[in-house]
Amino acid sequence: MKRCHHLCRLLPLWLSLVILSFSHSSYGDNVTYDHRALVINGVRRVLISGSIHYPRSTPEMWPDLIQKAKDGGLDVVETYVFWNLHEPVQGQYDFEGRKDIVKFVKTVAEAGLYVHLRIGPYVCAEWNYGGFPLWLHFIPGIKFRTDNEPFKTEMQRFTAKIVDMMKQENLYASQGGPIILSQIENEYGNIDSAYGAAAQRYIQWSASMALSLDTGVPWVMCQQSDAPDPIINTCNGFYCDQFSPNSNNKPKMWTENWSGWFLSFGGSAPYRPPQDLAFAVARFFQRGGTFQNYYMYQGGTNFGRTTGGPFIATSYDYDAPIDEYGLLNQPKWGHLRDLHKVIKKCEPALIATDPAYTSLGQNLEAHAYKTSSGACAAFLANINTQDATVKFNGKTYQLPGWSVSILPDCKNVVYNTAQINSQETTSEMRYLSSISEGTNQPLSRLSSSGWSYIKEPVGISKADAFTRKGLVEQINTTADASDYLWYSISFNITMGEPWLISGEQTLLHVESLGHVLRAFVNGYYIGGAMGSADSTKISLSKLIILDKGKNTIDLLSATVGLQNYGAFFDLSGAGITGPVTLSANGVTFDLSPYVWTYQIGLKGEDMSLFDDSDDSASLWLSDSTLPTNVPLVWYKTQFQAPAGNDPVAIDFTGMGKGEAWINGQSIGRFWPNYTAPLSGCSDSCNYKGAYSSSKCLKKCGKPSQQLYHVPRSFLKEGANTMVLFEEEGGDPTKISFATRHTGSLCAHVSEMHPAPVNFEVYPELAVSKQKLGPMVHVTCPGPDQLINEVKFASFGTPQGTCGSYSHGKCSSTNALSVVQQACVGMNSCSVPVSTKAFGDPCRGVTKSLAIEATCSS
Ligand code: GAL
Repeated sequence: MKRCHHLCRLLPLWLSLVILSFSHSSYGDNVTYDHRALVINGVRRVLISGSIHYPRSTPEMWPDLIQKAKDGGLDVVETYVFWNLHEPVQGQYDFEGRKDIVKFVKTVAEAGLYVHLRIGPYVCAEWNYGGFPLWLHFIPGIKFRTDNEPFKTEMQRFTAKIVDMMKQENLYASQGGPIILSQIENEYGNIDSAYGAAAQRYIQWSASMALSLDTGVPWVMCQQSDAPDPIINTCNGFYCDQFSPNSNNKPKMWTENWSGWFLSFGGSAPYRPPQDLAFAVARFFQRGGTFQNYYMYQGGTNFGRTTGGPFIATSYDYDAPIDEYGLLNQPKWGHLRDLHKVIKKCEPALIATDPAYTSLGQNLEAHAYKTSSGACAAFLANINTQDATVKFNGKTYQLPGWSVSILPDCKNVVYNTAQINSQETTSEMRYLSSISEGTNQPLSRLSSSGWSYIKEPVGISKADAFTRKGLVEQINTTADASDYLWYSISFNITMGEPWLISGEQTLLHVESLGHVLRAFVNGYYIGGAMGSADSTKISLSKLIILDKGKNTIDLLSATVGLQNYGAFFDLSGAGITGPVTLSANGVTFDLSPYVWTYQIGLKGEDMSLFDDSDDSASLWLSDSTLPTNVPLVWYKTQFQAPAGNDPVAIDFTGMGKGEAWINGQSIGRFWPNYTAPLSGCSDSCNYKGAYSSSKCLKKCGKPSQQLYHVPRSFLKEGANTMVLFEEEGGDPTKISFATRHTGSLCAHVSEMHPAPVNFEVYPELAVSKQKLGPMVHVTCPGPDQLINEVKFASFGTPQGTCGSYSHGKCSSTNALSVVQQACVGMNSCSVPVSTKAFGDPCRGVTKSLAIEATCSS
């Protein structure tokens, strides 16, 4: 009794502690896998995942992006870990601000989602140098991504560092945290043959190194068919339904379903139709998959000099379900949300068994998951581009071309990948005319008096310049401390060199590995040239006139993101390779082997002109002769942040190429005058048939990127400072600001579509128990917004696309009033697509309802 006296008092406290700590660990402790799926706390799971890379947005944006991911039906958020962000100098770590990966992981956990942490630490990702810090390259004897001791030492050290950080914060699921999965390496299988027999040893080593870190959750290797047990090999691609893992004990997982594609400077803008993306996802689950990740779910922005290369643009929008600015990309987001909902309905059947396949005809496939306990889910696919009618379990089904129908009860079609019920929204940029500080000029067109400038010297101006005989490779020289390397040479023309006659035309010829070249002769800009994402090589030929006596040729070579992909990508190199020749009168003289003077970076970079400090304040000139359309100028102005909370963009039309800083933070490289090729685009690409990254392109002949995201958190109240470095020549007074908004809400739903999958989330339908048919449903983007106008409504055979719908041959007369009545003044509304509501304007014809509405702002 006496002993119990103590215990009895302590017991309730102890018990409540246990309960508390259990309720804190809202995630399972135990993540394993089997042939069918990842198994969390003993339960197989169907998991929908999406990539959001923490440094491509801001901590202020993270909660909203993650909430939108959750609302879109995601279970997991995936991110890479970016080594070069966290360890810019060997041994010096940085986990602040956008680099605060622990905070990011915790933010995902707070939303109740899981995390897949792809440590790499090689990540590819259109990220500078594939994520490797440049100092790694300078370690003696190092060879990247192979059986090489110096490399393995560093890779292990960084991987262990990240794992330890996560462990210390209890972030692995095994500790009650959100991380259920980790990745080591990245798509090494795509290129490993180039590394010979050492590749095998490296993969074995990577696997055991990762396992030794004892995370308590499974590891994956993507695109690595020989991933050693127990590491799961996973698939990346536009389609992964045909993939199977290298062991029957591993689940079929898709770590990168490319939701679109990345943009390059000089390229057109890729997009991927939602019907095809949904088709790919449905096919994957149809054929036994249980984990699928969108790469990207929100792509974001490559701030600063983080883009990979060469020539990866600053925007990493990717045509992902959430756009670069954090707005929903509709109907992609909504169509996938509906798909996720149906797949979750199928989950009990999907995890229970392998699918049973039946052919329904040529390229017509049925897969059914049927359990002993009576659950049944079926997927019917039409892989032809023409529509088909099929028979399944005695019932007849219409299958549109290139589509999958999902039957969560094996009888009723609840979703078809080609039939979009979701609303579509247009996103628009509203150009501003707010007032710039001090000048009272509209911000959208700042007057030149609002700008001050500093000219960056042409050629060598820094004390740390140095000389070398011959031409040097750029990346080995700059270590990427700057995009820029000056190559400078001076020589005298005397009467003794008959072939070089001053005052006559001489041909200057320069060969460079890229990425961009600007040539100056005796201080004058004579022209530039650039490579492209396909070929970085440059050759420049210009007629010049040399002076008698001393002549100087200054060549500015610039990189635009270091290579991030391919075998030995780290060795691809950049800069002027030569020859650099002068030719006149039939004689050619090669300057390459002579002594050149080099300068790494710009003087303005050394002086941190982009910083918002006052150190350089007196150097900025604000006379009336603002230089425009000349190379090498730093510009500065002040402005007021656009009012409100809408995302902000700068339209750099009028500028050439350079980098921009807002209050000292780089928003990335701008290059609005590099335009996409004239051909190869289509504004409405046919989703039917296999997709590839060049199949659906927009913006031919237009600037690859004209708008640049300025995160709200970069801005402050009152005066904000913008600094630009213009390398080629531009007019900063043409720059304008815009805010991003959702424009019209549109929807176009046919009588043939299934009813909405997620009607339980539509408040106005929650009470209705009646069997629903197809519906048009629209919701304003903001909870306080109301539909103020129905711009268009047509029931019958309406034509066209959002923003330009028109009535077809057949249209009911009351459509507009019916829709107005249901929608105006509401935050969201639903209208049945049926003759009950609209009458029948044309018997025997399949009808649809199209609407376009706007919301109050
Ligand atoms: C994959 C790679 C990703 C990304 C993607 C293209 O090969 O794993 O990191 O680069 O391609 O966006």
